[in-house]
Amino acid sequence: MLGSRWPILCLPILLAASACGSDILMITMGGTKSHKIPFLELARGLIRRDHNITLISPFQPDFHLEGLEEITPEGLAAFVRGYMTFDLVGARMKGEEPLPYMDIIRYGYEACDAFLNDIETRSFLRSGRNYDLIILDGAYPECALGLVYRMKVPFMYINTVAFYASPTSISGSPAPFSVTPFFARSFTDNMSFLDRSVNAFWHLGSLLGHSISVTILQTVLRRHFGAQMPHVYDMAKNVSFILQNGHYSVTYSRPFLPNVAEIACIHCKESKTLNADLEEWISGAGEAGFVYVSMGSSVRTNKMPLAAHRLFIDALKRLPQRVLWKQDGDQNMTDIPSNIRLYKWLPQQDLLGHPKIKAFVTHGGLLSMFETVYHGVPIISIPVFCDHDANAAKAEVDGYAKKLDLHYLTSDKLYEAIKDVIVEPKYKIQVKNRQTLMRDQKESPLERAIYWTEYVLRHKGAYHLQSPAKDLNLFQYYMLDIALTFLVLSLTTLALIVYALRIGFICLGNYVQSKRMNKLFDKSSDLLKRSTKLIDEASLSKKKL
Ligand SMILES: *[C@@H]1O[C@H](CO)[C@@H](O)[C@H](O)[C@H]1NC(C)=O
Ligand SMILES: *[C@@H]1O[C@H](CO)[C@@H](O)[C@H](O)[C@H]1NC(C)=O
Ligand SMILES: *[C@@H]1O[C@H](CO)[C@@H](O)[C@H](O)[C@H]1NC(C)=O
Ligand SMILES: *[C@@H]1O[C@H](CO)[C@@H](O)[C@H](O)[C@H]1NC(C)=O
Repeated sequence: MLGSRWPILCLPILLAASACGSDILMITMGGTKSHKIPFLELARGLIRRDHNITLISPFQPDFHLEGLEEITPEGLAAFVRGYMTFDLVGARMKGEEPLPYMDIIRYGYEACDAFLNDIETRSFLRSGRNYDLIILDGAYPECALGLVYRMKVPFMYINTVAFYASPTSISGSPAPFSVTPFFARSFTDNMSFLDRSVNAFWHLGSLLGHSISVTILQTVLRRHFGAQMPHVYDMAKNVSFILQNGHYSVTYSRPFLPNVAEIACIHCKESKTLNADLEEWISGAGEAGFVYVSMGSSVRTNKMPLAAHRLFIDALKRLPQRVLWKQDGDQNMTDIPSNIRLYKWLPQQDLLGHPKIKAFVTHGGLLSMFETVYHGVPIISIPVFCDHDANAAKAEVDGYAKKLDLHYLTSDKLYEAIKDVIVEPKYKIQVKNRQTLMRDQKESPLERAIYWTEYVLRHKGAYHLQSPAKDLNLFQYYMLDIALTFLVLSLTTLALIVYALRIGFICLGNYVQSKRMNKLFDKSSDLLKRSTKLIDEASLSKKKL
């Protein structure tokens, strides 16, 4: 049924020279826990190859792994907990921006200040511990560049938010606005004239907001690391390698320099058997199967308005399927219909890989999108914030998703959408197509990520993969300076020619005119001579008379 299966463990990657036994520091300052997942997956793979990993993040470890040391600076963790209190779903239902722009801008520098002022961070920095490589999150990497500056070692990114083009574009990979949909809007890479202009507006607006945030962040960094610290934009260009959390089978086909490798689904795994309780509940549904509902870890459902819960319940209770719903909190809902069960946590990939699953109702987080394609399950996508809209737009183009807008959502619409995705075979067919494309790769994403990480370790940075494109400004990159020079030169030449011609014509005109005058003059003097002659003759003949 499936194409090729990825090898479970990284089979020995045959290397001329191995780079085993290195110390690697990973840092993610992303505001949601899902940012940790690709890091942990890469860490697992690297630890099997005898590297030691330190991971700094705002989220407490969920498990212990030999070779992995997790550091959770409490100052940073507390800041993120205090920050992520928005009622994202409620705002979206009212048609508002779920995260106010000012809050997005302040996250960068406030999180940085909280991180660098933390006691644990300070003692970590004072300890003088050294690493061979630092791997940063492509989302909010700026603050951690301070540690790169302090330790003076090569660094890489895992660009966790695939549609966020900034880390790849700042390091020289092309990302023209014409085909690069802005990550927080629902554009695809096929845009009309109007779409392209609005898309460009969002890109430019985001660059402006980012540069404001970074200007303030720079003062925070210089306070902690000294006034000599270069600008973070200049440091960011020196990235050795980018592990891009996308893949052309699930994100878009994009031009990347050789210092980028796509690693979408680095965390995807074959499903395991469920625990007896879940398995029993699912098999109780018989042929109808089950529907899985989860809004991910960042959209806290206990912050969801009660009306939204009611709406979901009203739609889900009409389904002939049984429903497993991942819920964060106690909603005090006493009248849960008999076909629905709420759980605080569910083994997502084991459910997606279960043969009885019919559809997945999701917020459209990137990792959920990859998992659903990996396991071949069609979705109903209800985007909430960040990159959800871009993810949903792509899934819809690929034909395995039905997209719903929270602002206009009703229980009828939700019910119809779920029914449609289950009954219409086209959704299942398309997701299977995507699954085949995603699984057709010459090595697993984890093997690819390990290979390139060890490549950077072996060569102590991968500066030969960089392109001077990163050092050009917009005018130089698009040759606008040259176009402008040519324009000015051509216009000047044209003006000179016109001027010269004008002078020439004037001279010629004068010359011709003077020639004519001379001729007239000659003629008149001729006439004068002749008339004098006539007069003379006349006076002579008079005398003769
Ligand atoms: C990794 O950690 C272990 C246990 O702390 C230590 O024995 C080993 O030397 C470390 N390896 C490297 C490469 O630092
Ligand atoms: C890039 O990083 C390497 C390693 O830290 C360093 O030697 C080099 O000077 C840096 N280049 C620039 C332009 O910052
Ligand atoms: C892009 O969109 C236009 C208009 O919707 C459509 O005609 C065209 O076929 C699309 N191109 C691709 C490559 O999908
Ligand atoms: C649930 O009910 C308890 C007691 O009735 C109340 O204290 C609590 O705030 C309620 N929780 C929610 C989410 O409404």
